Amino acid sequence: MCGIVGYVGPGSSLDVLLSGLKRLEYRGYDSAGISVIDQEKGLQTRKRAGKLKVLVDDLALSPLPDTHIGIGHTRWATHGAPNDINAHPHLGGEHLKLSLIHNGIIENFSELKKELIDFGVKFSSETDSEVAAHLVAREYETVNDLTQAFRNVVRRLQGAFTLLCIHEDYEDLILAARRNSPLVIGLGVGENFLGSDVAAFVEFTKKAVAVGQDQIVELRADSVRITSFEGAEIIPETFEVSWDASAASKGGWPSFMAKEIADQPQAVGDTLMGRLSSDGSVKLSEFSGLSSLTEMNRIIIIACGTAAYAGEVAKYAIEKWAKIPVSVELAHEFRYRDPVLDSQTLVLAISQSGETMDTLMAVRHAKELGAKVLSICNTQGATLARESDATIYTHAGPEVAVASTKAFTAQLTAGFLVALALASMRKSMGAVELRELGLELLKLPRHVKEVLESVERMRFLGKRLSGAKSILFLGRNVGYPIALEGALKLKELAYIHAEGFAAGELKHGPIALIEQGQAVIVVVPSPKGNHSLHPKVISNIQEIKARGAVVIAIAEKEDRLVAESADEVFEIAPTNPIMSAVLAVIPLQIFAMELANAKGLDVDQPRNLAKSVTVE
Ligand code: G6P
Repeated sequence: MCGIVGYVGPGSSLDVLLSGLKRLEYRGYDSAGISVIDQEKGLQTRKRAGKLKVLVDDLALSPLPDTHIGIGHTRWATHGAPNDINAHPHLGGEHLKLSLIHNGIIENFSELKKELIDFGVKFSSETDSEVAAHLVAREYETVNDLTQAFRNVVRRLQGAFTLLCIHEDYEDLILAARRNSPLVIGLGVGENFLGSDVAAFVEFTKKAVAVGQDQIVELRADSVRITSFEGAEIIPETFEVSWDASAASKGGWPSFMAKEIADQPQAVGDTLMGRLSSDGSVKLSEFSGLSSLTEMNRIIIIACGTAAYAGEVAKYAIEKWAKIPVSVELAHEFRYRDPVLDSQTLVLAISQSGETMDTLMAVRHAKELGAKVLSICNTQGATLARESDATIYTHAGPEVAVASTKAFTAQLTAGFLVALALASMRKSMGAVELRELGLELLKLPRHVKEVLESVERMRFLGKRLSGAKSILFLGRNVGYPIALEGALKLKELAYIHAEGFAAGELKHGPIALIEQGQAVIVVVPSPKGNHSLHPKVISNIQEIKARGAVVIAIAEKEDRLVAESADEVFEIAPTNPIMSAVLAVIPLQIFAMELANAKGLDVDQPRNLAKSVTVE
């Protein structure tokens, strides 16, 4: 959480910082602020509570000088309420010549603050971050060298932090440090950038460097120096950003979410590209980073939020096709019990951002216990990818809306590829059968497109149910995690009570919730692929209807029994029963988005949330 951006070069720092913040606003939108250094006026700072637009409007009314160096921040509040004073940047030093922004939590801030107060330092905010600003400023007064002062201070900090710091005495230097929070450098020609992720600067350069753990960056317009906290030189490893800058703009859609839902045929298709040949055979070159894959005797999938539901679907695919036992764990639960795993356990970590702190901590813990880590990640240069033994990138492009849509369907697709590649490697299925599944997977982008072309009724139902107090979701087999994801989307976007249940669990409690008019969305398994499950779910529909529920079913085309029992049916193309998860979730995304739109809510930036949760 919190987005940070930095720029030094001949261009307009205000333009670069504000466009970078706009692309990083998904990381938090409680307040925003920038600092620039003007040759005449010195350090200039402006910060405002509220979304970035408040700051932009303020700057339009009363502009700051346009300079060639600056830092910017968009905040998701941890310490201190989201107001102007707690907004970043924070200033340090007697004459407030130093400006600092921070993403993360400085865990030992209380003792450091006390030390500073004893020295007579006056604090203006309630944040942990201001402590770092004053510490660096004081240390600079002592050692008279900004980089040395910064280094001395970051070595004293505990917790998670990405810090960016500028000082009036240095008109061409941004200092940055990173521990347990993300930081990427963008390399331009005669100009350089810093960002929480590549989205911050992809509009200006596609050449990037991911900064490693416990490293310090000295960024100037024409040079980049990276050292460890201890001072050892680090040779930067550059990579090319594959994202297209235009992919991070709305492109005429009313919201990023609407655009990202519409991007899904491409997100799924791009994730398959180069990994699935036209004859249906799957090849994941990424597996070469993982020795002894054939000896793995179980898989633990680790993730949070929507990514964990993608993991639940992957479990069905891996167990059915590759015949390896799989368990799915919420990263924050996994990390703090005593999980039993060893070198024959493969951990599959799934994360859109690759920066979710809970997932990273769980991965580190698993590695300490000897497990190998394969990750599914959407963001190049992310910490998760750096710390995994191998990474399969989903090629969904930048996802800006906080609620995940295209990254989810791309994660599902990547999960199917992993399952098929493992099955092929372990020969758990015949080659012909495997290729048939591969051919079915190849059809997914087209099926996704068809779903998107027929969602009008779902839009209408979303609007019609905007007054509902509670909506329930039921599913079985892969329909169960899809029901959970449908409920999560509704909670995130529309702030109404929504719960997903395994349909088989209905009689064990949830049916007591059904009363006259209760809306229930049921994800119905395919009648062909799930002979035994289909009639059971039809019976569930009958049972809840008999008690007054209004049933909206997501079902395979021409499912006659569903048509006879549900009030509304949204049809998806017949496909492999496990792969149908990708199709079934789309109407649920549309439903939640339209319901939230009808309530007049901001679907891209729901209250209290941040897209990338970089604190535990
Ligand atoms: C947050 C977001 C969710 C996301 C989850 C995991 O809670 O609001 O949309 O699913 O983090 O994020 P990750 O980047 O690890 O996939």
